[in-house]
Amino acid sequence: MGESKERQYISMTNDFPTPEAGKPARVSISRLKLAHFRNYENLSLRLGPSHVVLTGENGSGKTNLLEAISFLSPGRGLRRATYTDVTRNDAPDGFAIHAAIETEDGSVDVGTGLAGNAPGDTARRVRINGVTASSADDLLEYSRILWLVPAMDGLFTGPAGDRRRFLDRMVLAIDPAHGRRVLDYEKAMRSRNRLLSEERSNSAWLDAIETPMAELGIAIAAARAELMRLINGMIERLPDDSPFPKADCILDGELEARIGIESATDVEETFRRALHDGRSRDRAAGRTLDGPHRSDLLVRHRPKSMPAELCSTGEQKALLIGLILSHARLTGELAGMAPILLLDEIAAHLDEGRRAALFDIIEELGGQAFMTGTDRALFSSLAGRAQFFDVAHGEVHAG
Ligand SMILES: Nc1ncnc2c1ncn2[C@@H]1O[C@H](COP(=O)(O)OP(=O)(O)OP(=O)(O)O)[C@@H](O)[C@H]1O
Ligand SMILES: [Mg+2]
Repeated sequence: MGESKERQYISMTNDFPTPEAGKPARVSISRLKLAHFRNYENLSLRLGPSHVVLTGENGSGKTNLLEAISFLSPGRGLRRATYTDVTRNDAPDGFAIHAAIETEDGSVDVGTGLAGNAPGDTARRVRINGVTASSADDLLEYSRILWLVPAMDGLFTGPAGDRRRFLDRMVLAIDPAHGRRVLDYEKAMRSRNRLLSEERSNSAWLDAIETPMAELGIAIAAARAELMRLINGMIERLPDDSPFPKADCILDGELEARIGIESATDVEETFRRALHDGRSRDRAAGRTLDGPHRSDLLVRHRPKSMPAELCSTGEQKALLIGLILSHARLTGELAGMAPILLLDEIAAHLDEGRRAALFDIIEELGGQAFMTGTDRALFSSLAGRAQFFDVAHGEVHAG
């Protein structure tokens, strides 16, 4: 425990990467193969390094294709779907996704899916160059995949949990271990809640859960606070006349607020004590009332000096795009590779000026962007800068 704790403190205080100026390496998908994934029976697609525009009717499979690519990063993909849901019509063998990713150090074969799992084994496996990875987090070595999908349009007005998840995905840019830490924290918290609900919960057992909870909680809060500092710095670099307005991001969380003011050891000890002292209150509430799982990400529209949730639909979308693009730039500078962007229905609600500005920024970010829409005409200014495909009934053809 002692050593790992020490390492965590080191990583909290000075081990986060710092943004490096200079062009991040381009990373692109050169081949994508899907089997039994959503409405795709078998798809094999070869791609050049440029941007990819996918157009087709409603229900043709555009979002599904982006979702498949999102599975090349840790987590449950851009819809947070169950693996049974994504398996085509419950195909008995499960789904499989393969991709060749072109990196600075050459081509990497990655694969994931349920195909080949023993019956009842519902965890997806990740293979990198033919070797089973110990964790999906290993994928972050080779590519960073970020997305913006219409379901995120309600991010500022919806539940805090969605914003926390959004925030924690952003933190992966500075700390690939963050996702695992959040899962471990939540698991420990569930054990604590369960123990508290028992008639005579054992105090020593609770101690044994609350100590690592405090340790994880403080590491989570520290990484979030650092991300906020970096993302706000990146947002400053948006031009003042940007069609995607500057956002002020504020972390609303008790632990996060104390980080940087008090020493990490003190914050951890105070949190551990709060958990200990809050047992009977939490028992009555049926849940844990203190901790980083209660934090929220507050966003303000700077030019209007207005909380994001009070902005118009279009203003919220523009703010969100600005935030995603700033995060993409940050990811590129921290990871040294430009992220692959999945932008679902991105052009639909933007006027022509904003569309052009968006395409220019994407170009400048230096990564491969996948964009979808029902109307090809909205992407016409990308001619020569992107490869175009028609999607229809789970098939994709160059168009
Ligand atoms: N597990 C599955 N098996 C088979 N088909 C599925 C599965 N899950 C979803 N689908 C179908 O895949 C189709 C394509 O969905 P997708 O969301 O990719 O459409 P889209 O092209 O993005 O459409 P839109 O323009 O409306 O967003 C839908 O008709 C959906 O019902
Ligand atoms: Mg769609």
